[in-house]
Amino acid sequence: MNASSQPQDLQQEHLRFLEPLGAFSRTHSCGELGPADLGRDVRLCGWVQFRRDHGGLIFVDLRDREGLTQVVFSPEVSPAAHETAHILRLEYVLAVEGRVRSRPEGMANPQMPTGEIEVVARSWKLLNISRTPPFPVEDRVDPGENLRLEYRYLDLRRPRMIRNLLLRHKVTQSVRRYLDEAGFLEVETPVLTRSTPEGARDFLVPSRLNPGEFYALPQSPQLFKQLLMVAGLDRYFQVARCFRDEDLRADRQPEFTQVDIEMSFVDENAVMTMAEGLMARVFADVLSLEIPRPFPRMSHARALADYGLDKPDIRFDLRLRDVTGLVRDSGFRLFASAPLVKALRLPGGESLSRKEIDEFTDFVKIYGAQGLAWIKIRRDQGEAEWQSPIAKFLSPEERARLGGDLGLVPGDIVFFQAGEPGVVNPALGNLRLKLGERLNLIPPSAHAFLWVTDFPLLEYSEEEKRFVAAHHPFTSPQGDGLEKDPAGALARAYDLVLNGNEVGGGSLRNHTLSLQERMFSALGFSREEARARFGFLLRALELGAPPHGGIALGLDRLVMLLAGASSIRDVIAFPKTQKGFCLMTEAPAGVSGRQLRELGLRLREKDPG
Ligand code: AMO
Repeated sequence: MNASSQPQDLQQEHLRFLEPLGAFSRTHSCGELGPADLGRDVRLCGWVQFRRDHGGLIFVDLRDREGLTQVVFSPEVSPAAHETAHILRLEYVLAVEGRVRSRPEGMANPQMPTGEIEVVARSWKLLNISRTPPFPVEDRVDPGENLRLEYRYLDLRRPRMIRNLLLRHKVTQSVRRYLDEAGFLEVETPVLTRSTPEGARDFLVPSRLNPGEFYALPQSPQLFKQLLMVAGLDRYFQVARCFRDEDLRADRQPEFTQVDIEMSFVDENAVMTMAEGLMARVFADVLSLEIPRPFPRMSHARALADYGLDKPDIRFDLRLRDVTGLVRDSGFRLFASAPLVKALRLPGGESLSRKEIDEFTDFVKIYGAQGLAWIKIRRDQGEAEWQSPIAKFLSPEERARLGGDLGLVPGDIVFFQAGEPGVVNPALGNLRLKLGERLNLIPPSAHAFLWVTDFPLLEYSEEEKRFVAAHHPFTSPQGDGLEKDPAGALARAYDLVLNGNEVGGGSLRNHTLSLQERMFSALGFSREEARARFGFLLRALELGAPPHGGIALGLDRLVMLLAGASSIRDVIAFPKTQKGFCLMTEAPAGVSGRQLRELGLRLREKDPG
């Protein structure tokens, strides 16, 4: 319900009580008074969180960013203050002056940091009224995300959201301190720029001064940071806003923030060691946690083989097994004919119900799977019994091979996926994560960092019918892979994974002209096309570019994980919906004909068909 459709609030009558703040200044926040302040005269400002009118006494919980303080309006202490306090309503804004005293015997609230004291008001001012808020400003209440985003400023008054923003602030400050101490210079790069290919669609901005031409908003500051290395800056960082027009998910926003870093005269290890130090510093500063270093490393190929995903969650140790060879001659046609068959054994999973298995079957279909084969191993009168819709297709020898190879014992369930690697791996890899959560296999306080290395340099795009860069086209190949076997070449690239989330990615770059030109040629660009699109980069590479490399960390994702939030929207002050819409400002929105004409643009008639 839209709050403005409610009947005109009574609150308007209270406008006549408004007073200017004047010279009133606070002595404390609402979150800090305690027994040490008893007897002290204090001045507080804040919002009415809660009000109880007991006739004799009026109690108000006054809230600001730091917390809540109970304020008492008592006719005995100040008849004037008490007389007007009955007008107070939720979210009214006040300034209060009074004295700190102990709460009466038995009235202390141990749940509240200020729960032992209260402030008895001597005088107060009404600074503003509020309509009845569309939802109570409380963590316990869930008004639904759309209403929260429409009234984001109210949502942000809630303690959980304030905590998230505070945490984000601490992370950013910690990052800045660490990088400053390590000799990095913070440099801002343009937001109105040319497109940098990072694999997503660009947001375009029409240029009024150059009709028919467009800026692109940066998908990342990639080329600018490389040019800063050519400029001799040596070590750069930026808390950079990036823009990508892609399908949105819980961990993706159309505009998001990177801690973007570039270094000269380094190899992969130097960048990774620096990033590990940065993470350790952030965890120490923000969560007072010591993170063990160095972080483990795993090749991309191993990640796919064992975990099915390129960002393994190694907080728990279930692994996928390739059983293609074992079932090559299977009586089960699907197994015998599939290019890849993988198994996921879940010890203790025999107790999963049919309903749960059906749910998992629906789940893997999200990733393109047709179904989910499974076998339960039961103990039946001392014998291991295989219970499964597919058991009848498997010969005794095949069972023996599978059972031996997978180490199957009674109590297990084993899931199978057969098909193309592009379906089998994500289907089983994501099922693994779901099982990890469902069966509480993930230690709640674990923080598992992992480097994924040795990514392929190129991947084939069916859509474009050519190779595209798996990371971005400025990433160096390993060795002479690009010449010898472009399809199999590996990249000097690395991703940083935390608890199964990709929180960063980077690479060593092509710093010589010839290597960068060969890369463009492998991507199917002619010399002319490459010059037309990236001439500025190629020219710079001709003018003494140092060897360089770097990384970008996804700040929103990192803060989400540190805050224990389930979406990056919860750690961004003003995020957009899954459809890229800002419910508060109602952007994007139409523009006037005049604005379009100035830009030399005309909208096509909406196609009636
Ligand atoms: P990459 O594209 O891997 O690398 O991005 C780096 C990190 O940014 C975060 N990220 C996102 N976060 C929120 N919403 C999004 N839409 C989004 N897209 C990416 C991820 C990711 O790991 N220029 C290179 C870095 C480099 O090579 O130095 C780059 O942008 O956490």
